[in-house]
Amino acid sequence: METGEKMRDIDRKELVRQAFAAREKAYTPYSGFMVGAALLTEEGRVYAGCNIENAAYTPTNCAERTAFFKAVSEGERDFAAIAVAGGDKNAKANDFRYVFPCGVCRQVMREFCDPREFTVLVATDSVGGYTKHTLEALLPHSFGPDSL
Ligand code: THU
Repeated sequence: METGEKMRDIDRKELVRQAFAAREKAYTPYSGFMVGAALLTEEGRVYAGCNIENAAYTPTNCAERTAFFKAVSEGERDFAAIAVAGGDKNAKANDFRYVFPCGVCRQVMREFCDPREFTVLVATDSVGGYTKHTLEALLPHSFGPDSL
């Protein structure tokens, strides 16, 4: 899959589809709100993630952070884009609410990504539709490694 300026609409759609596939693995006995993420590295590898809930609630991990932590723990540091797909477990194909990454996940992205370059794709349906955002648009005036 191409990254950066070369990333094509067809690749973005494919990343969104992979986020939906990852969503199938979501462990959500408490909220029933299933989220999947597909994180694309600069070299074209994709790491999938899902949300993983917990009986004690606070240990719950979002899909985006699952994908980031999987990738970073495998030695990845350079990321191009992430697709996020979410909705109630019973949502129908075109009945998905847009799920934007939570604030904590945006901050985790900020640790590893240039806010002006990193692309966040928010799924709008289950067949590859998306809206496209920079991390900078989602997390303006951010605090990151270069702030210290
Ligand atoms: N969740 C995510 O996985 N990603 C988001 O960006 C928003 C929220 C999860 C956490 C929890 O398991 C469920 O959605 C409801 O908040």
